[in-house]
Amino acid sequence: MALYPAQKHVLKTCAKLVELLPETDRLKPQILFLTSEVTPFRNDTDREIAFRQESNFFYLSGCHVPSSFLLVTYQAGTSLEQTPSVELFIPEVEPADLMWSVPPPNLDIASKTHDVTKVAHTTALTPTLTQLLAAFPSALIHTLPPTSLFPTLPPQYRALLGAGANVTDAYLLGALHRARLLKTDPEIALIRRANAISSRAHEVVMRVLGAAVKGALRGQDPASIGARPALPGEWLVEKEQEAEALFVASCRREGAVHQAYLPICAASTRAATLHYCCNGGNDKEFAWGPVGAHDRHNHGAFAQHDGQGGPRQLAPQVLLIDAGCEWSCYASDITRTMPVGNGGKFTPEARAIYELVHAMQKEAFSLLRPGVHWDAVHLATHRVLVRGLQRLGILKSPRSANSGSWNAEEAPLAAGVSAAFYPHGLGHSLGMDVHDVPSASKPAVNATIPQGDDDGLGNEAIYAYLRLRLPLEEGMVVTVEPGCYFHRHLLAAVRDSKHVDLEVLRRYESVGGVRIEDVVRITADGYENLTTVPSDVQWIEGVCSGAL
Ligand code: GLY
Ligand code: MN
Ligand code: MN
Repeated sequence: MALYPAQKHVLKTCAKLVELLPETDRLKPQILFLTSEVTPFRNDTDREIAFRQESNFFYLSGCHVPSSFLLVTYQAGTSLEQTPSVELFIPEVEPADLMWSVPPPNLDIASKTHDVTKVAHTTALTPTLTQLLAAFPSALIHTLPPTSLFPTLPPQYRALLGAGANVTDAYLLGALHRARLLKTDPEIALIRRANAISSRAHEVVMRVLGAAVKGALRGQDPASIGARPALPGEWLVEKEQEAEALFVASCRREGAVHQAYLPICAASTRAATLHYCCNGGNDKEFAWGPVGAHDRHNHGAFAQHDGQGGPRQLAPQVLLIDAGCEWSCYASDITRTMPVGNGGKFTPEARAIYELVHAMQKEAFSLLRPGVHWDAVHLATHRVLVRGLQRLGILKSPRSANSGSWNAEEAPLAAGVSAAFYPHGLGHSLGMDVHDVPSASKPAVNATIPQGDDDGLGNEAIYAYLRLRLPLEEGMVVTVEPGCYFHRHLLAAVRDSKHVDLEVLRRYESVGGVRIEDVVRITADGYENLTTVPSDVQWIEGVCSGAL
């Protein structure tokens, strides 16, 4: 694999940094000083917790070694503008540690595997920094903010920098986020790999569901396997945690160390909770009886059966899995919603909502190209949602075409009713982090959205959780993740709305929620979908029923 392009990322970042500086500081020497993550330990175990490099440190160094440092020296208008000095400091091997851990690379190997101008041991950091400060007395020294989000600069180096006005954390993070917004080709390759691995993991879960429908799996059935544990090829998916275990196992089997975020595996009405999973989440069995609206706690349902001693029947429901692994500090973020408990087929209500969300995503895809504002794509998906909910009768239909009456397409939008069904944004920038580069994703003032609350465009409710509010540019990587949910608390706000037909709504509430999420990169004239697992209803049902 080609070297990670750290020096190119340094150049991009320094150019953005200079743009952010006051005019009077732009020609000064700029020193960037970053520290890496240290290996985290769990107390009283003497064992590491899985190490993951800090994103910005990796972006500028390509270095996965813990307890390392980076010094960049740049000056516009000098030879350092084309070729900044990029010095990486890695720890020296401690002989006493060798019996416990794998050592860091030696300097010769590290120089060949990192795209930097020099690699040295961390013992050289103090003299190097001292010389640098003496050689460039007017330099601005840039650090990341001293918050818990970033590794702390050890006090001895802080002291060396002094507390003078030439040390600042006001610009570096903003510059890094702006540089990271548009991805380089090697970054796309890493995101592509994370997406390919995660796509296969989603397919694995669906194929296990399908195999069970075909009766090919024995699960934990004592009659067929006795007292021994079920082998991987015998696993059923009857609980959210089993879906999570299969997903993570498939990613790990392909070498992914980290998930980009905790997987969300939510069956039934739990699918309406957007970031379901935390604090004992992903821990429910699928419902065996009828799925009630807001069937959030079904412990004990496993014991239900047909009362005659016959086989238990899983109730038809959806299983929403929002999960993606990381590959070398680059994320994926994929959601698939699949049918369970109904022979691998959606119920008519779940299918209708699935097809509606799929149409929202298709509409978004049709608009993606450089120059199109993300707000406009998000709004277009709300329009598809409103029309779809009107077609299903969940929202009352317009009395007559072009009547301008209160229940025309615009009215529910303006009233914020669609936001109760689709409360989150269409998607966000993705890269090293799942909700990537937040400070570069939203301008302070968004001039493109008309103000006012009666035209369907100006209702801020639909943009409240939109994490990207920019025109698209070639090189951006974004998620496209429309959804439609029946969440008790969110719907409470619109149950009395004149737009909502309560009787029809009740028929759909047990669907819970549907989200479909793919990762795309914006190209010169459109987009490329980096998520490879299909999402059309025929394929999903075909695989989940064991027919494909
Ligand atoms: N997985 C979190 C999100 O989709 O934004
Ligand atoms: Mn997601
Ligand atoms: Mn997402």
